[in-house]
Amino acid sequence: MNSIIQELERRRESARAGGGDVRMAAQHAKGKLTARERVAVLLDEGSFEETDMFVEHRATDFGMADQRIPGDGVVTGWGRINGRLVYVFSKDFTVFGGSLSGAHAAKIVKLQHMALQNGAPIIGIFDAGGARIQEGVESLAGYADIFLQNVRASGVVPQISVIMGPCAGGDVYSPAMTDFIFMVRDTSYMFVTGPDVVKTVTNEVVTSEDLGGARVHASKSGVADGAFDEDIEALFQVRRLIDFMPLSNREQPPVRKSFDTAVRDESSLDSLIPANPNQPYDMKELILKVVDEADFFEIRSDFARNIITGFARIDGAPVGVVANQPQVLAGVLDIDSSRKAARFVRYCDAFNIPIITFVDVPGFMPGTKQEYGGLITHGAKLLFAYAQATVPKITVITRKAYGGAYDVMSSKHLRGDVNYAWPTAEIAVMGAKGAVEIIFRKDAGDPEKLAAREAEYKARFANPFVAAQRGYIDDVIMPHGTRRRIASALSTLHNKQVSDPWRKHDNIPL
Ligand code: HXC
Repeated sequence: MNSIIQELERRRESARAGGGDVRMAAQHAKGKLTARERVAVLLDEGSFEETDMFVEHRATDFGMADQRIPGDGVVTGWGRINGRLVYVFSKDFTVFGGSLSGAHAAKIVKLQHMALQNGAPIIGIFDAGGARIQEGVESLAGYADIFLQNVRASGVVPQISVIMGPCAGGDVYSPAMTDFIFMVRDTSYMFVTGPDVVKTVTNEVVTSEDLGGARVHASKSGVADGAFDEDIEALFQVRRLIDFMPLSNREQPPVRKSFDTAVRDESSLDSLIPANPNQPYDMKELILKVVDEADFFEIRSDFARNIITGFARIDGAPVGVVANQPQVLAGVLDIDSSRKAARFVRYCDAFNIPIITFVDVPGFMPGTKQEYGGLITHGAKLLFAYAQATVPKITVITRKAYGGAYDVMSSKHLRGDVNYAWPTAEIAVMGAKGAVEIIFRKDAGDPEKLAAREAEYKARFANPFVAAQRGYIDDVIMPHGTRRRIASALSTLHNKQVSDPWRKHDNIPL
């Protein structure tokens, strides 16, 4: 018996050794943790149960028969985050550069099946060189098997990808189909084709960092939902994110005891809106003052900063927050902000997370750049996402709600459940100046007359009462009571039921 146990331990040791001490040291020298260290940081201490640690590839070409490392470049299993079940796979760059063989793919697919069947999130940690070159088409097949399970799991269990090294070729598309992508600055990059291929095909010379580093994807492309300085911080943020999520779409998000009272008034909000309607203010201040304990987990904070998206709690229960940011481009809706918010709204709706929308939006961004880029289609995404969402939806208009953007931003007409406006709200087809310039074009040469018309328009429309008279706004509320009113509205919506006509699936303008 002793020798059998020793054999088991020897095999385990061999798997744990991965690609060996030299490669592990190289990993550390680059400022990166190893695959197993990452799992240990991510999960509650001692909770990791490893699966398939003895799996080996079956390739024989290119001398591969003599090179087998148990685990085959990916560490898989389940564990707990603050006591809640998650599945995790972590690519081991020390083993064949973390590259994907048929056997490696099968381990991930097995885990995806478990996560889907048992209703728990799946977290993938990427640090890999793409398809296992020695395996050819078997590797391509393995990728497609993973992609299929990503798609099947989408909207059923939360899927999170953490990029902590190279992530290229076949490796990028699995993260792209998950709900959230986090990257580590300076050590991770994602691209479909690397700098060498770029040079050959387009003659463009670019570094890996400039092509697909964390900064690029977190601020330019919007591919990444967050960028962090090092592995430990990124993993810690994944733990924080998981705390807001239900384990699957079969559950409600986890409620935790709040140390903040639901009826807390915040008197400083009464002076948040500047007297001059064109002067910006920081919408984040409002969010932080309204949510529990000023705890806000922002998603895509560096991308399309004219809209804010993120998770918070009200009276202990998770909510998704979407808010125009008047500090950036006056909070206008453009292609990027529409895409960013639409995806977030759909995530919240898929996972039973109520949506709180704070509105201060001057409209859609004009111009050829936006129109040529398909603003119509992208703006429609946000409209579609809000209209479709059946989770509780609370809207607070703080200042401007102009034109189509008024409709889009979770208006009553798109099934907003409770829609409030602050007394400072201006709900109209457009701003007063633009409006009088159009409807009183004949007075264009008479600035005095135009000014009078503008004042008249403002008095009539630059307020929340016309909308309130029609029931499009449920009440005009004092800013200081915003948290209390939102908490109260949310408490009425636990048993909300909405039905839609049967369909195979929708056809959102992609
Ligand atoms: C097999 C690989 C590998 C791969 C790296 N290695 N990539 N082995 N298949 N795809 C091995 C190396 O041989 C080396 O082994 C070890 O991993 C570390 O690699 P290095 O090159 O020494 O590391 P580094 O200098 O840090 O460079 C990392 C890298 C580079 C940028 C990822 O290795 C690289 O460019 N790899 C190839 C990337 C690629 O073209 N992949 C295929 C993409 S096509 P030793 O034994 O020396 O430690 C694709 C198509 C799928 O994925 C499409 C599906 C839809």
